[in-house]
Amino acid sequence: MGTKHLRFILILNGLLLVLTFATANPSFAADLTKAALIPKPVSVKSGAGNFEFNGGLDIRVNEVNPGMISLAKYLDDFLTPATGSNNVILEPGVQKSEKYIQLETDDAISQLGKEGYELTISPGTIRLSAHTPEGVFRGLQTIRQLLPASFEGKKPIKGPWKIPCGTILDYPEYTYRGAMLDVARHFFGPDDVKRFIDLIAAYKMNVLHLHLADDQGWRIEIKSWPSLTKIGGTTQVGGGKGGFYTQEVYKEIVQYAADRFITIIPEIDMPGHTNAALASVPELNPDNQPTKLYTGTKVGFSTLQTNKEFTYKFLNDVIRELSELTPGPYIHVGGDESHVTKNEDYIPFIERVQEIVLANGKQMIGWDETTLSALKPSTVAQYWSKAENASRGVAKGVKIIMSPAAKAYLDMKYNPKTKLGLHWAGYVEVDTGYKWDPATLVPGITKENILGIECPLWSETVTNIKQIESLVFPRLPGYAEIGWTEATNRKWEEYRVRLGCHAERFKAMDVNYYPSAKVPWK
Ligand code: ACM
Repeated sequence: MGTKHLRFILILNGLLLVLTFATANPSFAADLTKAALIPKPVSVKSGAGNFEFNGGLDIRVNEVNPGMISLAKYLDDFLTPATGSNNVILEPGVQKSEKYIQLETDDAISQLGKEGYELTISPGTIRLSAHTPEGVFRGLQTIRQLLPASFEGKKPIKGPWKIPCGTILDYPEYTYRGAMLDVARHFFGPDDVKRFIDLIAAYKMNVLHLHLADDQGWRIEIKSWPSLTKIGGTTQVGGGKGGFYTQEVYKEIVQYAADRFITIIPEIDMPGHTNAALASVPELNPDNQPTKLYTGTKVGFSTLQTNKEFTYKFLNDVIRELSELTPGPYIHVGGDESHVTKNEDYIPFIERVQEIVLANGKQMIGWDETTLSALKPSTVAQYWSKAENASRGVAKGVKIIMSPAAKAYLDMKYNPKTKLGLHWAGYVEVDTGYKWDPATLVPGITKENILGIECPLWSETVTNIKQIESLVFPRLPGYAEIGWTEATNRKWEEYRVRLGCHAERFKAMDVNYYPSAKVPWK
């Protein structure tokens, strides 16, 4: 072989190497405005050069308090496994190296709101400023996505690493951006719930709604009614052994979420979807005889006795204990599909439960059927099924959480070939899940009426976290973006390209995602 040929092969090899490197880092953008950020920020401007580092960094805080130190530790915990070097967390006024990430809260930037942040990346410094620690936390998720996806793998990787210079100004469109996990149909332990929390936090969601009781299981310890978990916690769909959270374990979950600025909203569904309670507490039944435990998937056959005083004493105990476990403002009381409760019983029942929730210092959330009742202005209705129910809620002056099943239910199959999930509301491919605007979906319901959006995962067909992930990803980043990014700044054709760059992140995070053909995966 002549040297010409050899040189050609070497050049080709070099080219291949460059190409391989480039495709192995699809998330690295030479220009900040090209970074595949989800949710898409309000404003991104590029600057000259890169912030380049190779090993540990200084992380500086502008104020020494537990909140700022814990944010610095969160960043340190994220960086260290990949860089292999510890970062030094520094107090104000101390400077060790020229290269640092500065985290700061600043009273002067209140116009960014509770969750907004400003990120300024220059060759020597990354400055993340926000009005509150919560805003700093959301901004840290942006820094995560600006770093190579391999940082998510928690294994040492070879540096140096670069983030392109520029500035990002960002804040959310809606204050409520949530996901729901049904731990009643199938039970998922605290480690699964914590993983779920980490995954939604990475996309700047701020609410986890836990569906804690249904016909098939009761999942939260209530100390005044121990039989709820002793009996009602022992089953699940298909007949498995179920499970429940002790109050201690539940508090740990709430704290884990709070550390990520995520509010847990507990739901006890009523008056329907209550067989697990009816099987556990005999006095809840008309004849004081417990029902049999149930492991099927039919809905709408059970009801609490709305005309029995015992029911309200019991509910007051449950809601009081749940409120004590809940730092957030809301208790969700379900209220959906009470097909065997007459409207004349259902309507005053919900009103009385609303009083109990308020008396325990919380605001009520109910599924859209609850708008049949007289609602207080602090109450929130969650639209899932009937637009007329949501519109009635708006007419009664309550705010709406948008969870339209045909767009936002994570348990709907992607297409007829999807193994897990259901399809009673239709198939929800990744584009169907993304292409809608909460503020125009239902005529007469506008942004002012909407608290935010939530994507629920019902668990009739999923039994473990990997199955959960296959329905949640890659749709969840789309719901996170609908909640965060203004509708005029969202286009499916552009979003699908950004989403394609997240395959690498899903892999590094070991997320079992569905590789939809609608997305150009990198
Ligand atoms: C619901 O999906 N039954 C709220």
